[in-house]
Amino acid sequence: MCGIVGYIGFQNAAEVILEGLRRLEYRGYDSAGIAIAGRDSIQVVRSVGKLQNLSAKLQECPLMGNMGIGHTRWATHGEPSERNAHPHLDCTRQIVVIHNGIVENYRALKQELINQGHVFQSETDSEVIVHLLEEMWRGQSEQDLISVTAQALTRLEGAHAILIMSSLFPNFLLAARLGNAGGIAIGRGEHEMYCASDIPAILPHTREMVFLETGEIARIDSSGYQCFSLTGGPVTKETFRIPWDPVSAARGHYTHFMQKEIYEQPEFLTDTLRNRLNFENSEIVLEQFPFSDQALNALEKITIVACGTSYYAGLVGKYLIEELARIPVEVDYASEFRYRQPLIGPESMIVAISQSGETVDTLAAIDEARQKQALLSAIVNVPGSQISRICTGLIFMHAGPEIGVASTKAFSCTLVDLFLLGFYLGQKRGTLAQERRTALLEQLIRLPKLVSDVLELDSAIKELAAQYYEASDFLYLGRGINYPIALEGAHKLKEISYIHAEGCPAGEMKHGINALIDRHLPVVTIATHDRLYHKMLSNIQQVHARDAIIIALVSQGESEISKFARHVLELPDLGHLLNPILNVVPLQLLAYYIALKRGCDIDQPRNLAKSVTVE
Ligand code: AGP
Repeated sequence: MCGIVGYIGFQNAAEVILEGLRRLEYRGYDSAGIAIAGRDSIQVVRSVGKLQNLSAKLQECPLMGNMGIGHTRWATHGEPSERNAHPHLDCTRQIVVIHNGIVENYRALKQELINQGHVFQSETDSEVIVHLLEEMWRGQSEQDLISVTAQALTRLEGAHAILIMSSLFPNFLLAARLGNAGGIAIGRGEHEMYCASDIPAILPHTREMVFLETGEIARIDSSGYQCFSLTGGPVTKETFRIPWDPVSAARGHYTHFMQKEIYEQPEFLTDTLRNRLNFENSEIVLEQFPFSDQALNALEKITIVACGTSYYAGLVGKYLIEELARIPVEVDYASEFRYRQPLIGPESMIVAISQSGETVDTLAAIDEARQKQALLSAIVNVPGSQISRICTGLIFMHAGPEIGVASTKAFSCTLVDLFLLGFYLGQKRGTLAQERRTALLEQLIRLPKLVSDVLELDSAIKELAAQYYEASDFLYLGRGINYPIALEGAHKLKEISYIHAEGCPAGEMKHGINALIDRHLPVVTIATHDRLYHKMLSNIQQVHARDAIIIALVSQGESEISKFARHVLELPDLGHLLNPILNVVPLQLLAYYIALKRGCDIDQPRNLAKSVTVE
């Protein structure tokens, strides 16, 4: 996950920035760079690998100046190399940019800019931003700078956090945020200002911070900042005082870790995709999955083992892998697996899913599979965890540390990993034609931005929570690949609000669950567009006929379901295989706001632990 630091004031900017970047090392990176605004020019130093390499270069050739920006990069487009490292300069070397996120439409923008005569130095998507600014700033006065920059930035598709510096305007930096590709915190000092993607980078210097929201741009000089909406007009920001204790500092301006982790999803989904999509050949690259093509082609079955939320992710995985790779997939509770004399052998692959990588039942299931000589693979979040040490094939979630006991971002990152696994097996086994692979990659790259769009339902969901937080039961209904999403929605609500909730395949209602339905029961239905949409519509009509309170998740533009549902939440449509990742987000927020209204201990719910290391 890339890190961003900026400084303007009276100190040596390169030193302040390097120190800030060191505090972001935990995020992971493969290269780094710093740009400092000199008297009339911009100087840039970049290096591959660890910050000590950058530091050594800076010692050889010190950068002097009181304003600068720095970046640690984790490659998405283009290999980790010095020329792909940020900051990126325009053709005139007067503008410089650092960026977190993915410019989804960079190919089209790059071609347009090349046609206009721009020369690119890197293979990155980020470089289009600086050439776009060069193009659009031409002939503009400082007065129009914010509005012209806003126009330029709104041409970028995807989610972005950006710092801009220019020798044309040597007294201020610009910081902008579009969507949730990571935040930007702006910190105030005495005659100096700081900004960073993460609070720890600048916390030793300042505790007074404001946070850019999506769609905002700030002009930062040494005495303060002004914030504007990208669509026009100044914005007044609330200043937060960040406490010293490291736990509260890590939570930032969020009330709970769970809320923070829900909001971090676009950023970590980007990390999960990073370095794994090859657009040239329309292929997926799995860096730690060393099984031969022969072994993968010989597979007769995949068995997913997991517990709790990871198990529900596994159920989604069954739909993904069976459709993409046409291999039968069974999903087992890890706690049950070893007790049922499972039929598994060298022709099978086990896929263990575990956020913590330490869940004792999942470890025991892997051991059972190991004894029966199955191929051992795992989807894990915590590097170095036991599960990551014993499995041969690893697909990391890259969800970052998850502190809230109720899993959110690890779930969505796991779904991406399962999609990648299904795609990878499909590409190896020849079940995915090139055309379909290209189309799927184009969809996948849009995912982080669309999750960010879904998060805008926050206040609507908060209102729903205020209406129904006193309900004693909830029912969640879904079909096909969204049935496990219904299970996960119910699971989240149970865990943190202590309300009884059930998830059910909507087609099963008439076989028993219908008896529970009455006018007091909130029923959350997942009815986004897919081939089961019409079946779901008729299930919703059946619930409506029994007077229940229907809260429906639908695809944007849907009009039929609103005739029956009391509340409708409209979601973007990313195709039936990726929609579940969008659909789970409102369910996480609903559980969160209901638990908040009920005054529950959200991050540490009663009787639950983050890592379950006992049977
Ligand atoms: C998720 O919200 C729960 N805390 C729980 O169900 C969890 O998913 C389960 O215990 C498995 O944990 P793992 O992914 O770390 O193996």
